Amino acid sequence: MAMDLHVNLVGRKDLCGEIYRQLRQAIADGRLGPGDALPPTRHLAGRLSVSRMTVSVAYETLAAEGFVTARVGAGTFVSEHATRRGSPFVKLQGSVLRPRAVWQSIPLPTAFDRPARYDFRTGLPDALLFPHRTWRRLMARAMRSGEVAAGVYQHPAGDPALRAAIARHIAISRGVLTPPDAVTVTNGTQQALDILARVLLAPGDQVAVEDPGYAAARLLLESLGVRVVRVPVDRDGLVVTAIPRGVRAVYVTPSHQYPLGVPMTLARRQALLSWAERHKVAIIEDDYDSEFRFGGRPLEALQTLDGSGLVIYIGSFSKTMLPTLRLGFIVAPSSLRSAVQKAKYVSDWHTSSLVQAALARFIDDGSYARHIRRVGTVYRARHALIVSTLSRDFRQHLELVPSSTGLHVTAVASRLPPSRIVGIAKRAADVGVAVQLWSSFTAGRSQPAGVMLGYGAIATDDIEEGLRRLRACFRD
Ligand SMILES: Cc1ncc(COP(=O)(O)O)c(C=O)c1O
Repeated sequence: MAMDLHVNLVGRKDLCGEIYRQLRQAIADGRLGPGDALPPTRHLAGRLSVSRMTVSVAYETLAAEGFVTARVGAGTFVSEHATRRGSPFVKLQGSVLRPRAVWQSIPLPTAFDRPARYDFRTGLPDALLFPHRTWRRLMARAMRSGEVAAGVYQHPAGDPALRAAIARHIAISRGVLTPPDAVTVTNGTQQALDILARVLLAPGDQVAVEDPGYAAARLLLESLGVRVVRVPVDRDGLVVTAIPRGVRAVYVTPSHQYPLGVPMTLARRQALLSWAERHKVAIIEDDYDSEFRFGGRPLEALQTLDGSGLVIYIGSFSKTMLPTLRLGFIVAPSSLRSAVQKAKYVSDWHTSSLVQAALARFIDDGSYARHIRRVGTVYRARHALIVSTLSRDFRQHLELVPSSTGLHVTAVASRLPPSRIVGIAKRAADVGVAVQLWSSFTAGRSQPAGVMLGYGAIATDDIEEGLRRLRACFRD
């Protein structure tokens, strides 16, 4: 037994009988399984402040009834034939407690389903390209560092070295100029949004999101009791004229609209900013996968174009590094900084110092920039292969939405009714091909049928065969 079994003698009289009964119950309900060791009598007696004799007698009674077997010199073990009779969890199953109604409409993510043989799901980087060896070394080094070893809680805004490294990195790679003070490290974009919602929105306030749009963001906002208004997206990005009056914040993905993949045009960016200025509305700019660019000119981030301090920029390391690290950040205007840090503090105090220290060094010694260049070359080849195959072999079925950023492309099946595309995706899944549909990201309003093809998770060598199988599903 690896852990100390809980035995409660408070207010009990027959201490020996009580120890016997509680151990027998633990064997019956499976907390102690066949072969598990009981604690040494001296150890348990000391822990319970009873005489060793009291524990020994309890063990002997259990042994006499066959529940346990004593092996000389080794200890006392639960017998192999002592079987489990009941569940210790009965109380948990029968509870009258109910979650708030909003949780009924929120699904658990399916991202951790078993991966398909040909995995075109979006939002996943290639874990095989991650520099595991370097990362292990940096983590070991962080483990030895004074601050982590001291075991003291750290500042909610994050490791100063990481905040400075992020500020330098986004200044160079995205032209987003910020002092390190403006940066708060978070557990991914998801927590960044949670924090901003806590800071900016009260239950009942309205927030605008893109339609189609990123479901995890919308569901988070809904779960907080905020009124989410879905605003349509066209090929230029969010339709600014369709944002209703009265919203307090707008959440957008301008670099690579999720899921359509289009960048928001400069004209739309300017329209959004002047609208926000007129109405004093916060813009939350999610720049989740803009590091990978395969052509065209990068447009300036909303944060860069903003002259009024209305844009809050959020970034993620889920695509450039690994989503499992759970690392992201917020760049907030000075008026919000203190509240953002307080919201991070009440959420979870701070992001793991160990991981922050490792990432700070990874960025500082140039490894991060090198890593992005290296994986970017691989993703560029996959992007090109998918684009050329779609244009050549899917011409009758799909029209590619031009996009040269990020880790997925999308295509419209304008000649197909949305119900047919659902059948095609199902047939594709049956032959080992995972693709996502736009329909999972819309409220169902006026969106044509469309598919998304991610190239983070699929090996370059598997793309042609995966697409060949997908095409066969269109013909069936
Ligand atoms: C639009 C969008 N934002 C952000 C993320 C990353 O989220 P996180 O940083 O919480 O892993 C994703 C991942 O798929 C995404 O699609």
